[in-house]
Amino acid sequence: MSENIRVMIPEEELTRRIKELGEAISKDFEGEEVYLVCVLKGAAFFATELAKRITVPVVVDFMATSSYGSGTVSSGVVKITKELDFDPKGRNVVVAEDIIDSGNTLNFLLDYFKDKGAKSITLCTMLDKPDRREVDVKVDYTGFTIPDEFVVGYGLDYDQRYRNLPYIGVVENV
Ligand code: IMP
Ligand code: MG
Repeated sequence: MSENIRVMIPEEELTRRIKELGEAISKDFEGEEVYLVCVLKGAAFFATELAKRITVPVVVDFMATSSYGSGTVSSGVVKITKELDFDPKGRNVVVAEDIIDSGNTLNFLLDYFKDKGAKSITLCTMLDKPDRREVDVKVDYTGFTIPDEFVVGYGLDYDQRYRNLPYIGVVENV
């Protein structure tokens, strides 16, 4: 069985939208410094492009999370698998995520940064799949709202593949 990728969001659209998000963040944080937290691996492509579009001072950091569960069903328990290099205390944390699905990851990160004493916590996601939400999370910046389909590309994987696609696509078995 071979796989075919149907384009959902082309590269030009992503580039244009990420520029808008960067401009909005720069405006909202005028005179401040932003601590941009990239949630590995999925958000890596989005976060670095976003960072390039932010004009206020930016400190970039990386962390990784995993959600535990049996098989493909997320249990809602999120664990940190790679810690940050810097202390979030007193910083304007801007979390860059690839996609919000159940909401468990961003909900966990919101509590995590609250506990760490962040000055402010802003959630920014490239994609939002609202149909699949299990916990209600207030996202501050959203790139695109998409239907309930499994997407790949621009950092998102299917079994670790397709992260390098420069667009967002849907895997179709042919
Ligand atoms: P959550 O369910 O909101 O906690 O999202 C957890 C993670 O699941 C995301 O950060 C992605 O890494 C992954 N994920 C959710 N939906 C998709 C998808 O359509 N394609 C690839 N990864 C996804
Ligand atoms: Mg992720």
